[in-house]
Amino acid sequence: MSDPHNKELNFATLPGDGIGPEVMAIAMDVLRAAGERHQFAINTSSHDVGGIAIDNHGSALPDSTLDACSNADAILFGSVGGPKWENLPPKEQPERAALLPLRKAFRLYANLRPGNLYPELSDLSPLRPQTVANGIDVLCVRELTGGVYFGQPKSTTTLEDGQEEAIDTMVYRTSEIERVTEVAITAAKLRSGKICSVDKANVLETSVLWRRVVAEKLAAEAPELELSHMYVDNAAMQLVRDPNQFDVILTENMFGDILSDELAVICGSLGMLASASLGADQNSHGQPFGLYEPAGGTAPDIAGKNLANPCAQVLSAALMLRYSFGLEDAANNIENAVKAAIREGALTGDVAQGGPSVSTTEMGAAIIARLN
Ligand code: IPM
Ligand code: MG
Repeated sequence: MSDPHNKELNFATLPGDGIGPEVMAIAMDVLRAAGERHQFAINTSSHDVGGIAIDNHGSALPDSTLDACSNADAILFGSVGGPKWENLPPKEQPERAALLPLRKAFRLYANLRPGNLYPELSDLSPLRPQTVANGIDVLCVRELTGGVYFGQPKSTTTLEDGQEEAIDTMVYRTSEIERVTEVAITAAKLRSGKICSVDKANVLETSVLWRRVVAEKLAAEAPELELSHMYVDNAAMQLVRDPNQFDVILTENMFGDILSDELAVICGSLGMLASASLGADQNSHGQPFGLYEPAGGTAPDIAGKNLANPCAQVLSAALMLRYSFGLEDAANNIENAVKAAIREGALTGDVAQGGPSVSTTEMGAAIIARLN
């Protein structure tokens, strides 16, 4: 009998800590259900990362996990960290010791964080009702492997007078700015065609270069797009004043770290936000290798209780289908099923605002029931 599936998705599953494993289980159920409808098969294996990997292997990112990721076309990541590992030195904390090396190893230079607030959930936003009555739809494109996170020198030394001195270095090269700008251009063309590049060009050399390279790239490759530039302090303010003035926000690593958390909170629940980190390398499908993860963290207080919101993990899986496997229809189907489930009242505790709520597994079933 011939295989009815014409595409096999080979990805590494890294559920991690806290609610990671239970929301990952839902994402896998949704992916399998989508596979039946869209003719793809799933070939995945699960590996320790984060705190559980520290416990089981003595490292937040063991070689066995790294090897499995290297042999895959994408990584579906859960979340890492928790109270058990909080007292480790900063460099050994699960978040930092797992995520930063993964980003570096797979050259995941572009981080896409869609900030979506569905109009039916607009009460969840801390912003004024009139500001978010129609929901929020902003995409943050953050450079992820450069800037002050990785620039050298990076050190702490003791000076002759006995003081300590710590140094971080912010570095950007033209090529790093160009490639992330390309990602923003592609995204903006699929949206409303507007990019706001955020920098601190009134103070930082890296930002002066950033602004110039972004402008040149847009002029050369996408003059039809509307490009604006904004200083980061102003952008932080404008995001809470009127988030929908933005469509695509393009920014460097640390500014993006900060602004994307701001975007997440104005969208209400962290349990809803997915993200994609796209790599410089192509996978065996000729698409970018990528890491896909929810923005919400491990929520240790509700872990193991079947209460967590699986939507961000499910939506991250949808982003994986879109970007690393080129399965746009399947991705849309999942995203629409999540929206429909919410619109029809399937809400986990974090978004139910004291009203009736569903469990993690019930939310998963509600999503699967709404797949076309
Ligand atoms: C994020 C996180 C990470 C970052 C931390 C955990 C290293 O805040 O993904 O935004 O700063 O990039
Ligand atoms: Mg962050």
